[in-house]
Amino acid sequence: MKTEVRQANITEISADLLIVNLFNDGQQPGGATGALDKALGGRIAELIALGDCRGKLGETTLLYSHGALPTPRVLVVGLGKREALDIHAVRTASAKAIASARAAGAKTVASIVHGAGEGGLDPALAAEAVIEASLLESYQMPRQSSDAREQKQVEELILVESRAEQIPFLEQGVHRGHIIADSVILARDLEAQPANIATPTMIADTARQMASEVGLTCTVLAQSDMEALGMGILLAVAKGSDQPPQFVILEHNTKRANELPTVVLVGKGITFDTGGYNLKVISASTMWMMKDDMTGAADVIATLRAAALLDVPLHVVGLAPLTENAIDGGAQKPGDVYRGMSGKTMEVISTDAEGRMILADALAYASRYQPDAVIDVATLTGAIGIALGSQAAGLFTEEDALRDRLLAASAASGERIWPMPMYDEYADAIRSDFADVKNTTSPVKNAGVSTSAKFLQHFTTGYPWAHLDIASMAWTKKARPMYPKGASAFGVRLLVQLLRNW
Ligand code: BES
Ligand code: MN
Ligand code: ZN
Repeated sequence: MKTEVRQANITEISADLLIVNLFNDGQQPGGATGALDKALGGRIAELIALGDCRGKLGETTLLYSHGALPTPRVLVVGLGKREALDIHAVRTASAKAIASARAAGAKTVASIVHGAGEGGLDPALAAEAVIEASLLESYQMPRQSSDAREQKQVEELILVESRAEQIPFLEQGVHRGHIIADSVILARDLEAQPANIATPTMIADTARQMASEVGLTCTVLAQSDMEALGMGILLAVAKGSDQPPQFVILEHNTKRANELPTVVLVGKGITFDTGGYNLKVISASTMWMMKDDMTGAADVIATLRAAALLDVPLHVVGLAPLTENAIDGGAQKPGDVYRGMSGKTMEVISTDAEGRMILADALAYASRYQPDAVIDVATLTGAIGIALGSQAAGLFTEEDALRDRLLAASAASGERIWPMPMYDEYADAIRSDFADVKNTTSPVKNAGVSTSAKFLQHFTTGYPWAHLDIASMAWTKKARPMYPKGASAFGVRLLVQLLRNW
């Protein structure tokens, strides 16, 4: 979708469809909507009086201008209660509006910037929100189908503003909204691609290419490099696969590493999770969904892209360990013991608890940056979905300051996370008789989320750390505004917000 800002009067703009808004307060429309109502001979006011257009958040009403305007269709989107208006309401309204515009078959859409006028929001932030939401709502997963049926899509979105002095702010917002949405889309595409396409090698190549385009430093460790570093726990997972493992390292502000705070992001990159010898037999018919078990890695790669293009004043490092969890004669087996980069040993109880294994060595690697914070993001456990459903991701940390930063970023981005406990007693359940720690309880018991976080904590030394379990958020089962069904890349918007607020 092409986007632009145009200085024009709302009644003069020419497009297939024009989006204006309405507060849910029973009042006559003001501002741009009021001007448009006048040009339409009071037809919007009439709909309000009839109660057919109430301005409830996200409600859309389509009208036809019958030649009274250069634009044949007008869509009124509700902004909700005036006093409740915030950036998130702007995102919701924008997403609902663009979805209706698409359904109406519009190719060129003009819109006012919701919240920037009467709403009193920062115009740049409002424009950013409109663009971010419109692009993410319009996302379609890549498909390889011979079915030539064309999918309806809005091709151009024009933000209309009459006041010249506002234009530069809106342009700034559009620029940033595009960066964020395009980054999320990069991660969604990787997430949606099947495991025969999005292999560790393909994802590493994508990261390398992206890094050269946006000016990030990129290093990819090959299997031999990981062997030399002693990453025996990560490599144990890769043993059963024909795909060579890759370890992507992206860095923003490499040269200023010493003067800036360092934040390391770590993402689980299992390009397919069969479960290994602990095969996913119970969930066999939904196993295809395990192609998204690299969402954490995709999130981290995408967040680094946004950090570079937004030029956040931080030293940001992204670590993405990538491998398949497959099965062959060389694959790891339950009972095996492996030594990782930290020197600690680990006993395999379940080969299906593989995410925490690759993260163990990535978290050990993170300490070389002497970071001010390390945050990992992972589709780690089915248990998080039992606890929170698809309403929030799990947040695990014992660091108050980092928890506060993450919760603030969550509130601002609308990507919900909820704090889960990390009591010491959970660590007792993963003591091993044969190694320093075992990768899950045996038999698999209660509190699967907290024991997984306690496992990770073993490998985090010398820095504040937080873990995000996004297993139940990565694949959207029921569409929400900005999150069509399927690949969500949940976490990118949250992490970008965190870095911007740092
Ligand atoms: N990738 C899965 C977690 C998962 C499950 C994500 C369902 C999305 C939907 C992870 O590797 C896994 O298999 N976890 C096990 C851990 C268990 C063996 C301790 C699980 O949750 O069953
Ligand atoms: Mn697994
Ligand atoms: Zn997994």
